[in-house]
This record gives sequence, C-alpha cells and structure tokens, in this order.
Amino acid sequence: MEIVRRIPRMKEIVRDWHRQGRTVGFVPTMGYLHEGHLSLVRESKRMADHTVVSIFVNPLQFGPHEDYDRYPRDLDRDVEILSREGVDVLFYPSAEDMYPPGYRTYVEVEGLSQKWEGASRPGHFRGVATVVCKLFNIVQPDYAFFGQKDAQQFVIIRRMVEDLNMNVEVIQLPIVRESDGLAMSSRNVYLSPEERAIAPRLYQALQLGQRLVQEEGERDAAKVVEAVRSFLAQEPRIRVDYVALVDPQDLEPVETIRGRALLAAAIYLGSTRLIDNVILNVK
Ligand code: PAJ
Repeated sequence: MEIVRRIPRMKEIVRDWHRQGRTVGFVPTMGYLHEGHLSLVRESKRMADHTVVSIFVNPLQFGPHEDYDRYPRDLDRDVEILSREGVDVLFYPSAEDMYPPGYRTYVEVEGLSQKWEGASRPGHFRGVATVVCKLFNIVQPDYAFFGQKDAQQFVIIRRMVEDLNMNVEVIQLPIVRESDGLAMSSRNVYLSPEERAIAPRLYQALQLGQRLVQEEGERDAAKVVEAVRSFLAQEPRIRVDYVALVDPQDLEPVETIRGRALLAAAIYLGSTRLIDNVILNVK
C-alpha cells in the first residue's frame, strides 16, 4: 500500500489508473478505523479495480466547542489494517495542504444541511460537503462508499453529487454494530465503562419504534417518536437531542408512515454525543 500525503501525487496515481481503463473506488474517513469503515473498504474492493481510502480529520466540520483536538487518532494501526485489507493507496493529506492560506471556497447544500444533525452542529455539513467535494476532485473516484450510520450525511452528499454534476456513483452500506447492538463509531472510545453499558439503549429504543411500525401496525409518526423518547427517558443519564421520523429522501418529518421512512436519533451520554438510525419499511 502506498501512503500518499501530497495532492499532486494522488492525482497522478489516479490519472494513470484511469488511462489504463481501471475503475477507482474511494472510502473517505477520519481514521481510527473499525469494522464499519472496513465494510466500506471491502465493498469498494469488490466493485472497483483499485481502492483509495482517505484519512483526514477535517477541521472544517468541527464546531468551536467540539472534539477536533481530542478526536481519536492512530495512524500506525490504521496503516496496518488497511494494508491487510489490500487497499492500494492511503491518502493522508495535511490540513495545511487541504486549506492553505487564502482558502475561500465552501459547498453549502441548502436546507438539508440545517436540520437534525445540522441544527445541533451549525456549519458541520458545510464542512463535510466541502471536504468531500475536494476529495472527489482529487481522487476522481468512479464509486464512493458511505455508511448509513451517517444517514443525513449521505443524503447531503448524494444531493451535492447530483446538483454539481459530479462523475461519481455514491453508494450507501448498512450500519455495522457491536454484538450488543451499539453502532460502531470512532467516538465510542469516549464512553466510560458505565456509559458504554448504557449506550446500547439507543439502538434498543429505535428497534422498539421499528417493532411498533412493522409488527404492531402503528402508522402515526408522532406516537412512534413518543415511544422512542419515553424509552430513552427511562435512563436518567441519557439526554435526548432529537428523535426524528423522516422521509429518507428529503429528511422532512412524516406524519403518517407509508413506504420507507427513516427513524433517527441523537443522544448525549455524559459529554459524548451518539447517533443511530433504522429504516422503517411498510408494505
Ligand atoms: P468517519 O466518521 O470516519 O466515517 C467514515 C465513513 O464510515 C462514513 O461514510 C460513515 O458513515 C461510515 N461509518 C461510520 N461508522 C459506521 C458503522 N458503524 N457502520 C457502517 N459505516 C460506518 O463520516 C466521516 O468520517 C466524515 O464526515 C467524512 C465523510 C470522512 C468527511 O470528513
């Protein structure tokens, strides 16, 4: 595996692959890799001739009081994991090269970026859309892989790709979970042992909502949201940020559940913010 730090070198490698008629799969990450990331890497290896993974803790998507400085990092371990997976290139740019002095251009996906996660994290999706746009321009992938874990992020990136006529097919893959149901996340290391024991309640609450809809026939979104909220409220150390039952295309709240809907939630456990979601499927 080649580790590439400089943007021109990354462009050169991909230019050569494309000249040879090879396809390129791309998995953007912030590192501290887990099985969720690796599910994306494996699908890229399956679909494309070459796979590029990026590790870049993007300062632009962190708010002033968020965890940019203490975001977990372990490059040596990530390099070992990605080599073992047979990744062709790890792209690991510096913040100085990505945002040099004089940097002025940002990508705003209006509306979609301001609700739910965006309401709690102003500027977050502007940072995500901007860095993903830059990474797509540098890596020029044929396919790019994202997790359903960050469902709103995927909706925003898909919108950006369509609106800006980007030549990349974006693909979403299911959430990979720990054996007790907690969605894998680099941020799970922030949890104390006590918080870690409580954390699976988030997924349990979403499953409760899913059962209400898919097994008990509940179609009133407000009732489902209320049931999820009151389950979470049973644990005093959980503070609910939002519980949302939305259309998976435009993220607008639904009143009556028909077809597919997204049930998503964010909670605080101590100072750690956790997100998770499930798809509701009504025939
Ligand atoms: P990061 O949080 O490192 O996640 C990288 C990719 O892995 C995202 O597409 C995310 O949805 C996916 N992922 C994370 N946890 C997962 C899980 N448990 N199961 C399946 N997929 C999972 O998301 C980002 O980085 C950044 O915002 C980025 C897109 C790289 C832009 O900076």
